[in-house]
Amino acid sequence: HRLLLEELPDAQVLVVSNREPYIHNRSAGEITLQIPASGLVAALEPVMRACGGTWIAHGSGSADRDTVDAADRLRVPPGEPTYLLRRVWLSEKEQSGYYYGLANEGLWPLCHIAFVRPTFREEDWVQYRKVNEQFADVIVEEATCDDPIVLVQDYHFALLPRMIRDRLPKATVIAFWHIPWPNAETFGICPWRREIIDGLLGSTILGFHTQFHCNNFLEAADRFMESRIDREHASVTFRGQETLIRPYPISIEWPPAALVDQAPVRECRDAVRRRFSLPADARIAVGIERFDYTKGILDRIRAIDDLLRCHPEWIGRLVFIQAAAPTRSKLATYSSLQGEAERLVADVNARHGKGDFQPIRLVVRHHEPDEVLELFRASDMCIVSSLHDGMNLVAKEFVAARDDEHGVLILSSFAGASRELSEALIVNPYDTHGMAEAFVRALQMPPAEQRDRMRLMRDLVRERNVYRWAAQMLLDAARLRRRQRIVWSN
Ligand code: G6P
Repeated sequence: HRLLLEELPDAQVLVVSNREPYIHNRSAGEITLQIPASGLVAALEPVMRACGGTWIAHGSGSADRDTVDAADRLRVPPGEPTYLLRRVWLSEKEQSGYYYGLANEGLWPLCHIAFVRPTFREEDWVQYRKVNEQFADVIVEEATCDDPIVLVQDYHFALLPRMIRDRLPKATVIAFWHIPWPNAETFGICPWRREIIDGLLGSTILGFHTQFHCNNFLEAADRFMESRIDREHASVTFRGQETLIRPYPISIEWPPAALVDQAPVRECRDAVRRRFSLPADARIAVGIERFDYTKGILDRIRAIDDLLRCHPEWIGRLVFIQAAAPTRSKLATYSSLQGEAERLVADVNARHGKGDFQPIRLVVRHHEPDEVLELFRASDMCIVSSLHDGMNLVAKEFVAARDDEHGVLILSSFAGASRELSEALIVNPYDTHGMAEAFVRALQMPPAEQRDRMRLMRDLVRERNVYRWAAQMLLDAARLRRRQRIVWSN
């Protein structure tokens, strides 16, 4: 936190993302507040709380319009405001083409190796460009100087950095791509590969979670653009402007704000046991995320099935709670995943259920941060079995939640987080039996080993927290900004 404030250059900070940090909904005549399930929001919200500024995002809640002022702004966080949220409204047509279509049926499957075919439609591309333009205009409206620092977030806004550069040439634009960047051959199937790279190269700095994804981007820029690539300094020069391509592994707030109000671990366990009517000696495994096909939810259920088949002594003594937040449900890939998961769970429960005891509990609804923390604290192990993931902050949140230094993290080797959290039990989600054996190892792990592993992971997340993530980007940006000022003054 202090580090972030020290590095913060003396300039206005604007954040742009599709997802907003606070959603207001209307249900039964009342306005309720929801914090969305999004790694991006989990990471950036504490940063904005600390440094202030304006966050520009799509207003998606049914009561969002009722809570803003005439300029579509409101001060947040509710109750103790420190920054501004500027909501941008999209028509159904825009939302369908830009968000569901291009972003989530095109770029999302293109960038994640989950073997879902990307769909590219010309009409979606038209809407995507239009919405990026709309956000660029809002940035100009919100800018109070000609050289703000603009943090552009994620694959919804690939064209925005260039559009900002055209409108505010002196701005420092930091674009961060929260998902993987594929190899050049894969990226090359996108019909608008050149436009997307051109858009991103409008930024001063382009960040990814890992060096591997930076290298993939450099390779794509080299292959598809007439640009100069400097591999030693990891930069691309295009249209006379240099963009640094840097890895900044994202993280979480430390300590997590919601942890302050949490009950001791023992009470969390009792509460969860009561809620799910579990026997006092049942061991608890949890999985918590959006219901997304990249998360490997079916794969972990199959591994639980395998475990109970090969080690029937765990039947009746192990429960796996999967909390899954509905997401992008208008898309067939997402709605059919939910149906498939429900069938698989019913199947496994029928096979291994004992009396009233069902080994798998699938809870499909949104969970607020305090409920998520309670589940983390109640569990013996947390399963993060992503088929592919930029970073995965659930893994880091689990570690942060365990101030008792117990609990085992099972982590996919295909999540960026596995590069940092090497004391987790690292698994290949495609290897069902291997994953089941890792679960058994976790269930049998002595408390001293759990503590040693958890301590190392907690030290790492404490030190490499999200304030450091933001501070490092801002420090690099501040350096470039100073250099740029010299150029302008001459
Ligand atoms: C990923 C993306 C974020 C997004 C989040 C939730 O983490 O990188 O940009 O906010 O998923 O998805 P949603 O479509 O609900 O915003």
